[in-house]
Amino acid sequence: MKGLILSGGKATRLYPLTYTRAKQLIPVANKPVLFRVIEAIRDAGITDIGIVVGETAEEIKTAVGRGGQWGIHVTYIQQDNPLGLAHAVKVSQDFLGDEPFVMFLGDNVIQGGIANLVQQFQESDWSSQIVLTRVKHPEQYGVAELNQDGRVIRLIEKPKDPPSDLALVGIYMFDQLIHRAVEEIQPSWRGEMEITDAIQWLVEHGHQVFPYIHRGWWIDTGRPGDMLEANDLVLEELSPTIEGYVDRDSQVDSRVTVERGAEIINSVVRGPTIIGQRSRVVNAYVGPFTSLYHDVVIENSEIERSIVLESSVIRDIPARIQDSLIGRNVVLNRSPIKPKAYKMNLGDYSQIGLLE
Ligand code: G1P
Repeated sequence: MKGLILSGGKATRLYPLTYTRAKQLIPVANKPVLFRVIEAIRDAGITDIGIVVGETAEEIKTAVGRGGQWGIHVTYIQQDNPLGLAHAVKVSQDFLGDEPFVMFLGDNVIQGGIANLVQQFQESDWSSQIVLTRVKHPEQYGVAELNQDGRVIRLIEKPKDPPSDLALVGIYMFDQLIHRAVEEIQPSWRGEMEITDAIQWLVEHGHQVFPYIHRGWWIDTGRPGDMLEANDLVLEELSPTIEGYVDRDSQVDSRVTVERGAEIINSVVRGPTIIGQRSRVVNAYVGPFTSLYHDVVIENSEIERSIVLESSVIRDIPARIQDSLIGRNVVLNRSPIKPKAYKMNLGDYSQIGLLE
């Protein structure tokens, strides 16, 4: 069986972070989401993995390479325009050949991995296995309608009037029949070749599509709030280790991970939290559900439930920072120079919430 990871797309909802970086490379609990996806597929015993890339191809190739660090072999497949998930399957036909495969969206984070699912599919004679989960807003996803015996009768992409609350999670297993299906379908109202329609084609033509209902958590990291939620959930599952330095004046609880070269000086850090390599927390408070990536400085400030990317500095901020997503090389400090005013140098689409 092969693996296919979709890692293209513009990710406009995550601007400005994704102006300069592929969304799949944003770290959650200090590990890029794409690396988690690669590990989930590798842990299911699949080592031949295709990654479909778009505009951010170079950055993804630099980060993942040929896959040696995971013991896998990666083939890159270029998709010049983001024309939909079924289109991504189409451009991957040479790589996939006639082998069954698992397709995984590179911005999805799921609890518990996919090893059991892949094994179940390999032992079956189904054409496809789809993963469903109950959601509050099914209209934002592909939705499945099942009959009383639990069989799939219909799949619809982003229905205005959803027939159920069972959303399609971004993980799919297919045999070679899917190639036929993607040839037969037409673009949807949003101009994309929907994989949902291709699976509907399989159902209509009498092929077995098995619905697996996932009961753990699952996050599609499309918006900043989703990234923070994924960060909360993954941090809760980390096994904490202290590899960096914590001085005697600091309080660091048992749910905190301090990576190599990091320093905690005269500070309070409450977990679940991760302090990245070479980061420095000085006279500061870092509260639960925070991920500081590499080379971050937090000094004379308080931060909680946030993600801070590499080499950013937060110094002398009087109010607590919370629920924030802060990019790379950001500087947030107090300016001693008059006039006494907010002085900002923000990128396009930045968002700031100041106190009243
Ligand atoms: C895509 C699929 C949708 C699925 C979702 C899961 O949506 O089209 O069926 O439920 O991924 O993340 P998109 O991210 O393109 O809006």
